[in-house]
Amino acid sequence: MIVLDTQNNVFTLHTKRTTYQMKADQYRVLLHTYYGPRVSGGDLSYLIQFADRGASPNPNEAGHRRDYSLETLPQEYSTCGVGDFRLPSLEFEPQDGSHMADLRYVNYQLRPGKYSLEGLPAFWGDQGWETLVVCLEDPSTHMQVELYYGVLEERDLITRAVRVVNRGNSTVRLHRCASLCLDLQRGDFDLITFDGCHAQERNPHRAPLRHGVQSVESVRGTSSHHHNPFVVLCDQGATEDYGLCYGAALLYSGNFLAAVERTHLEHNRLVLGINPYHFCWTLSPGEAFTAPEAAMVCSPSGFGEMSRQFHRAIRENLIHDPCQGKRRPVLINNWEATEFTFDAEKLVDIARSAAPLGLELFVMDDGWFGQRDNDKSGLGDWFVNQDKLPGGLGALVPRIQELGLSFGIWVEPEMISEDSQLYREHPDWAFGAPGRPHTRGRSQLTLDFSRQDVRDHIYEAIKTVLDSADITYVKWDMNRSLTDVWSAQLPADRQGEAFHRYTLGVYEMLDRLRRDYPHILIEGCTGGGGRFDAGMLYYTPQIWCSDNTDAIDRLRIQCGTSFCYPVSTMGAHASAVPNAQTGRSVSMETRGVVAMSGTFGYEMDLGETTQAEKEIIKEQVAFFKEHYELIQQGDYYRLTDAFQEGPYTAWAQVAPGRREALVSLVTGPARSAEPLRTLRLKGLDPDVCYQVNGEGAWPGDVLMQAGWPLPMFWNDYQPMQLYLSAV
Ligand code: GLA
Repeated sequence: MIVLDTQNNVFTLHTKRTTYQMKADQYRVLLHTYYGPRVSGGDLSYLIQFADRGASPNPNEAGHRRDYSLETLPQEYSTCGVGDFRLPSLEFEPQDGSHMADLRYVNYQLRPGKYSLEGLPAFWGDQGWETLVVCLEDPSTHMQVELYYGVLEERDLITRAVRVVNRGNSTVRLHRCASLCLDLQRGDFDLITFDGCHAQERNPHRAPLRHGVQSVESVRGTSSHHHNPFVVLCDQGATEDYGLCYGAALLYSGNFLAAVERTHLEHNRLVLGINPYHFCWTLSPGEAFTAPEAAMVCSPSGFGEMSRQFHRAIRENLIHDPCQGKRRPVLINNWEATEFTFDAEKLVDIARSAAPLGLELFVMDDGWFGQRDNDKSGLGDWFVNQDKLPGGLGALVPRIQELGLSFGIWVEPEMISEDSQLYREHPDWAFGAPGRPHTRGRSQLTLDFSRQDVRDHIYEAIKTVLDSADITYVKWDMNRSLTDVWSAQLPADRQGEAFHRYTLGVYEMLDRLRRDYPHILIEGCTGGGGRFDAGMLYYTPQIWCSDNTDAIDRLRIQCGTSFCYPVSTMGAHASAVPNAQTGRSVSMETRGVVAMSGTFGYEMDLGETTQAEKEIIKEQVAFFKEHYELIQQGDYYRLTDAFQEGPYTAWAQVAPGRREALVSLVTGPARSAEPLRTLRLKGLDPDVCYQVNGEGAWPGDVLMQAGWPLPMFWNDYQPMQLYLSAV
């Protein structure tokens, strides 16, 4: 609920459990007054203290009042060059070369429903949303800033976006335009970031805020394997179930910056948005720039509830699921089984061994097109390699379908190999600055997707393939970080637009694909989880979580990912052992338990598995299908921290309504004389009796307080699942 006090220019956004407030003061400066557990309201600006702080300048309107400084007051959207020396949200350069932005409140608009952003991903939905737009202006240049707030009350979710409009009469260069600024004047916070690398994504790192700026960012052109555009600020004592925490996610898949500053006054400011590195956007009079959306959830009771609110909102109000209301298929992917070396017979063989196990979708991965026999050639040539697949997809797909599986395909549209027909015809379509040699990544170059002509060509080529057979799934991959970012279609003084235009180009392509083929399930992938962000999820309802398919490493990767993103978005497959990334061997049971807490599939040559393993797979697939709703849509509880060296990792899904739950657990390395342990469950209805694995029944409060005694496990990495149903 949005409450306006127009007399005093106080704007209060209430969600079910939180309150957020800002106020335009007597100088029309928009101050942030409160964000935290829900309170009844009123003007919370009494919390702001005014004091003369040495070296803090005062705005002109304040006259000789020395206790009023932009630097010491909590700003709703921070400026630069006029007295606030902390992290700026906005920086622009008019023709006089100045770098000053001084924003004053102009007006507001209140609307039912949710705003949308042209060309950018955004949360959506008609029900339960309200929108507030607060307009500010720099009086000297007439640069206007519209701050958008979307309030999804039930989910404690507040979205933000920013639109900058040049209402002056000369051109302005925009150097910085963050999506979110959050000034929390009081509190000793920890910052949690989600970091890693290829095959080891989204490991949480937590540290107390220290004085100065601490940040994570990407300058790789993707949101990256290395840092995620999702961060958490929390009370230093916050745990899964206790303490105040603020999660902030950017819906953006390119270069981002998440920076937090703790000042000399121990004020805390979070700024999240497009990375100002190599960013400069020219705005002629009348033109506007829209910064991507950011979304915040504040949880007064720990990380668990924060995550669940993000999960619900992402599932219900961000992704577009072509299978909505139906089950997404359990898939078999051939990549780890064959890599580039396959032909139609091999693919049909894999599908043939998958069908009787209950698998439903066959995904043909990399290597089916052009002269793609290894990773040095073929990208850009989106036509079927007739040597491998004679008769093309028109011949192959019906053979797969006859076995009872639907058919999906892998593409990597953003890339080009130097050894390709496309590169020989259009060498200038790859990013690269004149006179400079190319930098390769995975032996490939990046297409300039800021260009409409390049995108159109690739789209048409892929469309021809998609139209040549009955295809129900596309894996959209992207396998290198961006370098040499220089676009032949932009003048020198606009090269600072190339990175962002690239990301917009990717979004435009994905949007076209989604609209032209509403029945196709698109899985995002960027060398595994290099672009696992809320921006991509708008277009691709699931994302390959990591190229690391080792079940034990996946416990950590999926746990880190779960802080913001739901199970139903995490691509996860059981693969062959010894694992291709770690050399570790764990049982088929363990691999299945871990993969089914994601979108679930297999990535192995099932023809090579033993009969005993086939029986296990069959049971796993049947179990997953039976409990699909619970696993994919249930509320997710981290029962342990996968990053602590503990005796086991455990998590649970609890159905809405709490009539059913699934508890999953994988032990760590075995040790002798293991103490007896009890696992305390979470999220159950204390007053309901649950049958556990079809045997005895216990009340929810007992299972949560007294817990479930764990058996003695034998050997490393043993799995256990408890299925609970209300009796
Ligand atoms: C990336 C993906 C893998 C696979 C290969 C194919 O690494 O993450 O899943 O598709 O590319 O080249």
